[in-house]
Amino acid sequence: MQHGKCKKQYPNVILPQRGRGFFGIGIEYPRTAKNIGTLWRSAHIMQADFMFVIGQAYRFVRTDTLKSWKHIPLFEFDSFEHFHSSLPKDAKLVGVELDIRSVPLTTYRHPQRAVYLLGSERDGLSAEALRQCDDVVQIPGEYSLNVSAAGSIVLYDRLLKNGSFGNVSGVGR
Ligand SMILES: C[S@@+](CC[C@H](N)C(=O)[O-])C[C@H]1O[C@@H](n2cnc3c(N)ncnc32)[C@H](O)[C@@H]1O
Repeated sequence: MQHGKCKKQYPNVILPQRGRGFFGIGIEYPRTAKNIGTLWRSAHIMQADFMFVIGQAYRFVRTDTLKSWKHIPLFEFDSFEHFHSSLPKDAKLVGVELDIRSVPLTTYRHPQRAVYLLGSERDGLSAEALRQCDDVVQIPGEYSLNVSAAGSIVLYDRLLKNGSFGNVSGVGR
């Protein structure tokens, strides 16, 4: 559903406000275009500044019905090294992974300038990526979530903590 249509239909719609800084999100060696499309759609709605993929070009899929590619730039990198050397100035690289060094997302303070990196559906984040991350966060749960679901949760957590939600009439009642 397009945003304009939605607001007309539901005048009480809550619009996220992103707070300070910038953020992007992407996947290392994604295996399905469907997951990239779904994450891209969340990134668009949660007002990310950019998306990226490492090691896999993107082919258009139907999961992105909002045509997010028209609104949020997607960067494609050949390798982790290529991606890492292109990080924006003063941005923190935040790995999203169930890993021995992960800290809980629930209490994590998101950096103002952050790039969130998710791992491949089959293998997770590479050892090199994990080594280079400034922080690694985990979402509570014993089993792995779908990669685009995990990314969407992280984006929502950032908005809750770093941003605010406008027009929140009725909250707390
Ligand atoms: C399906 S999982 C990969 C599972 C992989 N077979 C493994 O065991 O490492 C795909 C990606 O989703 C993200 N993910 C899934 N569940 C997560 C969780 N509970 N916390 C943090 N990241 C998660 C990570 O980025 C992970 O690399």
